[in-house]
Order: sequence, then C-alpha cells, then structure tokens
Amino acid sequence: MYLGIDIGTSAVKLVCADADRIFATSSVGIKTSSPQPGWSEQHPDLWWQATRDALNQLARQITLSEVKAVGLSGQMHGAVLLDHDLHPIRPAILWNDSRSVQECDELHIAQPQIGQIAGVLPLPGFTAPKISWLKKHEPAICTRLAHILLPKDYIGLCLHGELATDTSDAAGTMWLDQASRSWHNGIAKATEVSPGWLPQIFDGQSVVGTVTTQAAEATGLKQGVPVVAGGGDAATGAVSLGATEPGRGFISLGTSGQLFVADRRYKPNPERYVHAFAHTLPDRWYQMAAMLNGARPISWIGGQLGLSAAEVVALAETVNGDRVPVFLPYLTGERSPLGDPHIRACFFGLEDSTTRADICRSVVEAIAFCFADATQSFGDTIDDLPELAAIGGGSQSDLLLGLIASVTGKPVVRSEGSDSGPAYGAARLAACGVGDFDVADLAIQPETTDRFEPVDPNALHGRLALFRRLYTAVSAVG
Ligand code: XUL
Repeated sequence: MYLGIDIGTSAVKLVCADADRIFATSSVGIKTSSPQPGWSEQHPDLWWQATRDALNQLARQITLSEVKAVGLSGQMHGAVLLDHDLHPIRPAILWNDSRSVQECDELHIAQPQIGQIAGVLPLPGFTAPKISWLKKHEPAICTRLAHILLPKDYIGLCLHGELATDTSDAAGTMWLDQASRSWHNGIAKATEVSPGWLPQIFDGQSVVGTVTTQAAEATGLKQGVPVVAGGGDAATGAVSLGATEPGRGFISLGTSGQLFVADRRYKPNPERYVHAFAHTLPDRWYQMAAMLNGARPISWIGGQLGLSAAEVVALAETVNGDRVPVFLPYLTGERSPLGDPHIRACFFGLEDSTTRADICRSVVEAIAFCFADATQSFGDTIDDLPELAAIGGGSQSDLLLGLIASVTGKPVVRSEGSDSGPAYGAARLAACGVGDFDVADLAIQPETTDRFEPVDPNALHGRLALFRRLYTAVSAVG
C-alpha cells in the first residue's frame, strides 16, 4: 500500500493505493491569503498541519503503519523561503501571485534567451522573479534566506529532513535548464540567487529519504518508510493517467487548469506561453498550457451566491446557454495563452432578466472557452491527440466536460478517481521507488468510465468569438 500526498491550493489531498487501485482518500481544506490585490500566499506550516490532519482522517480507514512508501505532489512554482535552521522566514508566495511583473521584464532583458532555456517566458507566477521582488521590497527578510524549496518539498523536508526537489517542480521555477535538467547558473545569477540555496534535483520515482522518528511520531507513519521525490501537480496528474509517453495528453480542472501533452523531446514554444517543462520521469518532457483560473471560478461564484460548486453546476444545467452573459474568468490574470497578469474578470451582457442560473452557466461556459484557447495555442501538436482525459474537481461536471469536448472538438473522457489524480500519481511514483512497479508501467492508462463527444460546435462558435473579442476590448480598457 502506497501513500500519495498532494499539497493542493484549496486542500491537502491524500490517496492510499496500490499501483492500479485507490483504497482510501482524505482531504483537508486550506485557505489562501491575499494581503494586497494580486498577492497570493500560504504559510508552509498550514500545509504540514493539514497533512497531519488528513493523515488522521486516513487512519480511520486504513492502518498507516502498513504504508510501504510515500510519494509527494504539489502546487508548482511557489516560493518557500527557509533560514539556516530550515524554518520558513515568511509565508510562501504562490503560483497565482502577480506582484513581480516588473521583475519578469528585467529578467527577460537580462536573459533574452530565457524562453528557449527555461521553456517559457518569465511570468510573475514562477519562482525566480518572486525572489527578485523580495530582494527589492523585503531586503531584511532576504538577509536570512538560506534555502528555497517548492511547496511539496517542504512536506518532504518535514518527513525525511532532506532539501530536495524533482525535475518537474524544478522545471517550474525558471532556474532550470530544461534540456539538461540542471540548474542554470546564468538565470540564478540574474535573480541574485546563490546556487547553494537551490535543492538537489531527483527523478520523481527516486527515493530521497525515509520518514524520521520525529515525523513518525507526528504522523503515525512508520519510521524508516521510503519517501520518493514525486512531482509538481501537473506531472503527477499525468502519471495518474499514464500520460508519460509522446502524444499522451489530458486536461486538469483544479483551482488552476492545464492542457498537458507528454513527449520524449524538449520542444519549447514560448511565444504562446505554452510551457515546455521537464517531466518527473527520466528522458521525458511535456508541453502544457497553464490557466490560472481553471475550475476556480465555479467555487468563486458559489462563494458569492452561497452555493456549493456542485450546486453552481446543477443550476447552470437548468438553462439553455443562448442568452446568458459572457464571462471573462480571469480572476487572477492569465498565464496561457495570454501571458497577461493585469487582466481581470468581468461579466458582459447582463440583462434585467438575467438570473442566478444564467450567471452560473456563463461561468461554467467560460472555463470551457479557456480550454478552446489553450488547444488553439498548441497548434498542430494537438491534432494527434485522440481524446482528452479529465482530472481534478471540475472533472465531476458532465456539463463542463461536454462543453469542453464541443469547443475543442476532442472527445473528453473521465475515469474512476479522476478528482484525486495528482495524489494518485504520487502514490504510483512511490510504488516505482521501492521497485514494486516499473517506470515503463506508469504508461498504463486507467479504464475510462465516461465519455463526452463534441456536439454541434457551431452552436458555441459565436459565443466563443464574442468571448475572444471581449478579452481584446477589456484588455484595451486597462
Ligand atoms: C501549473 C500551475 C498550477 C499549479 C497549481 O503551471 O501553475 O497548476 O501547479 O495547481
């Protein structure tokens, strides 16, 4: 039995599984703070507390001491800043934080080839420009900075005491030379980061350490259990679906959204903000459109209307889409394919007759439109993909998956456990780490339980065109 721990943005999710079946899951919510507009932070202590609480929940379903190996997954790009004693010196700055716009411009000027080296052009969500921002705005804090980690790696540190990351999370920092899969000294220097602050990079299935006595006491896991490096949530989501070989792809509908296609070659395409990153497995890379707003607008509008995400979707299903407003879902700016940290959300076309249900429908539809844009940004690469497997909380909505199928022209499929994909992927990596599963076997795809075919794409064509014109108009307003 293997444990996968996913440090998500809205919750820590755990999965206990063997290589092809999930036995038990648990989840504990975490809050994000936004001390200023465009800022997004979580304290690493919250993740460790939520992990221990989620393990407590899991212990009611399984015997934790029977866990044979642990794998980690987590939100990518977060800057976790530690002092010499390995204590966090401030809250972590997350993937959807947009404070470091100016520092991105400066980095691009200092390293004009950065798109080809780091696989994407600088954007504020990535780790490197955040450090440049901190140097300018919080110099006193920076004098104590001794180590930088990614979110899941902080939980690794709590479990095994090592400073380590994996290739896919290193890939999201902007300090990685994606082709050689090693830290790039020039980019580190341009952001005034000493290479000694960065953790050692492992393949995702490599054992990095074992659960310490102290961690065993805190969690109920057995002391000495191996912990593998794991991966960023995009890569572990891919591992959960067998998206490890060229041409295998999927979409993720979590707080963020992703369109992901695996490859055996590094193929940068920075102009459209498609990310070309190292995968968590050796000799694999991937291309990804990363949308900052994923399925989050559903829980956001639910929060405003006093509805759960499931209620928002149920309400959206009660109306025909023809006369609903058009929604731009860019609550925290947008990464792919717009590369626009300044844009914000808005409704267009509200009428006296507009209902709550219409508003919910327009929010769900907007998420599908973002995937249409993402698909377009991939160009021909996407043509060979026979279908898109969906994971993440949003994958539970038939309406959303049907709309995505129609606007992308690709069938969308769902399999069991799709809502806890990254944690399951981390558990599969753990099984590999202790030799119970082969890396090649990670390409095994789970059985599909539901399939959504594209239906009459012309029906949505006009609304998608309006959505795109609306972005151009709103971005011109400022
Ligand atoms: C990927 C990305 C998000 C985060 C949070 O580039 O920013 O998917 O990993 O889930």
